[in-house]
Amino acid sequence: MSLPTHVRLVEVGPRDGLQNEAQPISVTDKVRLVDDLTDAGVAYIEVGSFVSPKWVPQMAGSAEVFAHIRQQPGITYAALAPNLRGFEDALAAGVKEVAVFAAASEAFSQRNINCSISDSLQRFVPIMDAARQHGVRVRGYISCVLGCPYEGQVSAEQVAPIARELRDMGCYEVSLGDTIGTGTPGATRRLFEVVGAQVPRAELAGHFHDTYGQALANVYASLLEGINVFDSSVAGLGGCPYAKGASGNVASEDLLYMLQGLGIETGIDLDRLIAAGQRISAVLGRTSGARVARARSGQ
Ligand code: HMG
Ligand code: MG
Repeated sequence: MSLPTHVRLVEVGPRDGLQNEAQPISVTDKVRLVDDLTDAGVAYIEVGSFVSPKWVPQMAGSAEVFAHIRQQPGITYAALAPNLRGFEDALAAGVKEVAVFAAASEAFSQRNINCSISDSLQRFVPIMDAARQHGVRVRGYISCVLGCPYEGQVSAEQVAPIARELRDMGCYEVSLGDTIGTGTPGATRRLFEVVGAQVPRAELAGHFHDTYGQALANVYASLLEGINVFDSSVAGLGGCPYAKGASGNVASEDLLYMLQGLGIETGIDLDRLIAAGQRISAVLGRTSGARVARARSGQ
């Protein structure tokens, strides 16, 4: 398959990135990060989560963050919602797009959202109904598509019916998450072959954590499978609080650099993106996790 001319990047740093930080991060710093990403030309930004603050304390201020960010027309500012309560809170905060999240492994589903896979899918039905009523678009996630921190191996055949169900209930896109970053390019290609037989590839996205250093290779493998949407995290921020040891997503800067090298358009300005990553990294008191950013600044 030939490579696409355009790819859409879903910036998950303010959510997937910052949700995993142990230190407190002020609303002002979160707002600044989102505004910096807007200025860099990022077309889709996952700003926060409307989840239980007992489960993920870092996302507690998401409504306040939404109230203060500078929203540009044409840019999607999204949030995670695990249940109807989360959806209603998101709606009250003016959110126009939410993401629901399921898992391909039962153990991870229990640890992350305290219910079985099938209960989680049932829980999404009223969210989908309410979303339709309010004109809110819903994206779906599946975690642990290439491995689970508790159950080990996960097969593509486990993932496909869940992706199909999310699509059938109304998710316009389903993002397949390698939560612990153990996937390799061959497994990634097979995953999209199997899931792509159930859900059109134009409605699938790749979400690769870089724990084992495979994320860019997995993106490339996905491109060869006809996948054109990828989640990434500025400065390589993050991980998942319920997947111990999992590192951040593929760094947006590194992904953008690779895509530019392939002649693929994203609409994002690399220098501004690097600056956004440098600023939040300084707030967190560390160097950027993006190799491109480190190379450019001689760090
Ligand atoms: P639960 O304890 O079973 O929920 O948690 P519950 O319905 O029994 O409620 C317990 C308490 O939480 C109650 O408060 C509720 O009001 C409150 P209390 O009476 O004890 O004071 N509550 C809420 N508060 C705020 N917002 C809400 C909400 N819902 C209930 N929406 C629940 C179930 C789903 C709420 C919980 O497990 C949860 O919030 N989990 C979120 C976990 C999470 O955010 N994980 C990280 C995101 S997923 C991820 O990172 C993977 C991804 O990146 C893809 C990949 O990499 O694989 C997407
Ligand atoms: Mg993730």
